[in-house]
Amino acid sequence: MRNIRIIGDDILRKKSRPVEEINARILTLLDDMRETMYESGGVGLAAPQVGILRRIAVIDVGEELGDGLLELINPEIIASSGEQTEAEGCLSVPEYIGTVTRPETVTVRAQNREGEVFEKTVSGFFARAVCHELDHLDGVLFVDKAEEIQKRDEE
Ligand code: CO
Repeated sequence: MRNIRIIGDDILRKKSRPVEEINARILTLLDDMRETMYESGGVGLAAPQVGILRRIAVIDVGEELGDGLLELINPEIIASSGEQTEAEGCLSVPEYIGTVTRPETVTVRAQNREGEVFEKTVSGFFARAVCHELDHLDGVLFVDKAEEIQKRDEE
């Protein structure tokens, strides 16, 4: 488990650097991020959220919507289409949810932990999660894009 940085922490606003070499330290970070995400009940986590300015994210939207753990190293969105407007939250913004417009479908290109480049096309909530986590790598939080923000207990 690593500590999750909360909004107001400057590190969440910085741009992450690419991973040059997938070494033991990076693999440990991926493992820790996975465990931290599961322990916190999140569906995604980006490295800056645990204080590391590297372009890495983990996502698991569950069996029904996805296909288990997705690890993204140096991810980029290479295609997107459509539009969806839904509520989303963030482990770094624990008390709020916001309504954000995102693409309906995105294709992400990234490396896996073996260093292999792959592409994956996802839609709906999965696409939302990919866009949200990639924003973190550029210092962007959902509150920057939200059309409406609500306290969680007002739901
Ligand atoms: Co987030």
